[in-house]
Amino acid sequence: MKINEDYLKLSENYLFTTIAKKVAEFEQAHPEKEIIRLGIGDVTQPLCAPVIEALQKATEEMAHAETFRGYAPDKGYEFLRKAIAEHDFQSRGADIDADEIFVSDGAKSDSGSIQEIFAKDNTVAVCDPVYPVYADTNVMAGRKIVYLPCSAENGFVPELPKEAVDLIYLCYPNNPTGGVITKAQLQDFVDYANKTGAVIIYDAAYEAYITDPAIPHSIYECEGARTAAIELRSFSKNAGFTGLRLGYSVVPKDLIRQNVSLHSLWARRHGTRFNGAPYIVQRAGEAVYSPQGQKAVKAQVQAYMENASIILRELQALGYTVYGGKNAPYIWLKTKDQMTSWEFFDYLLSKAGVVGTPGSGFGKCGESYFRLTAFSSRENTEKAMERIRGL
Ligand code: MLT
Repeated sequence: MKINEDYLKLSENYLFTTIAKKVAEFEQAHPEKEIIRLGIGDVTQPLCAPVIEALQKATEEMAHAETFRGYAPDKGYEFLRKAIAEHDFQSRGADIDADEIFVSDGAKSDSGSIQEIFAKDNTVAVCDPVYPVYADTNVMAGRKIVYLPCSAENGFVPELPKEAVDLIYLCYPNNPTGGVITKAQLQDFVDYANKTGAVIIYDAAYEAYITDPAIPHSIYECEGARTAAIELRSFSKNAGFTGLRLGYSVVPKDLIRQNVSLHSLWARRHGTRFNGAPYIVQRAGEAVYSPQGQKAVKAQVQAYMENASIILRELQALGYTVYGGKNAPYIWLKTKDQMTSWEFFDYLLSKAGVVGTPGSGFGKCGESYFRLTAFSSRENTEKAMERIRGL
């Protein structure tokens, strides 16, 4: 027996596990202190009424032999895939068919698993800072990683890779920086992939937070993206499914490499390793696309965006340099007094009882930055800002 030694190249814990441990230790040492969590991007508003009704109705169906459902179809139920294709793509002029969608238990799983259909000796480009799953899962698989620096100077959108790469992970609106990519910038990446044969993995988990109408919601709004990109989406951030689990990937049938359809490779992997998101959760997902569902989830997103503007406004007034928060639920700030990201984490936790995420946890270029999320309640967001003001 030999272990996978590539795992030894990783830090001992996943970033958010390390943070949870540190916070638990602090709470144990200071049980009297009330902690406000603006760290992991977990939602706090309950599921909206149309989603709850759909869950209840579907649960009732499971209680009767005539309406009971067992395993879901490999790619997900057609009722959900059709709603997704029409609402998320066709309505935006993006040519994606229901049959090109794979329903899953969330974008984190998909963003970690998608690398399995690619060869081990591919070179992978990720942004720095980066959502750790893209980098960590490729390290686990033993691939070479190239980091594309993202900074305030380039608006947190990297330049095209200078060396040859095979896979490029992009996430916009961006986690962790809250930056956005314009359609022209995204088109450059699509053109690059079509020219070189690279494949883009585009994580659009935060598209519901786009307020600027010029910003693309999907990579398939770009010309030629059907032959260049896979897109990942989530129901967690737009509709509060972090505890229910639902997401999907899009692999267009035109995405061919070495004369092989990546759609069929992913279908083979999905069918073999995954037995489908639960029926009741897929019905809940369908309810998100109903007119009442849309109204309710838009109101939730709006409430989080109000938190984002409170954080932006307060931090700016305190003299912090801040980014993001306008088309994304994340605020990316420069630490003060030249503190490292982890020094600032300890400072904020010990002095204000506020948890955030150290920028360096997302990569070297995140050093001296810090991420706050807008996913808390308004009351806690205001309280956190009041405490930071009092420092
Ligand atoms: C984050 O805080 O970066 C996200 O919540 C992580 C995730 O969605 O898995």
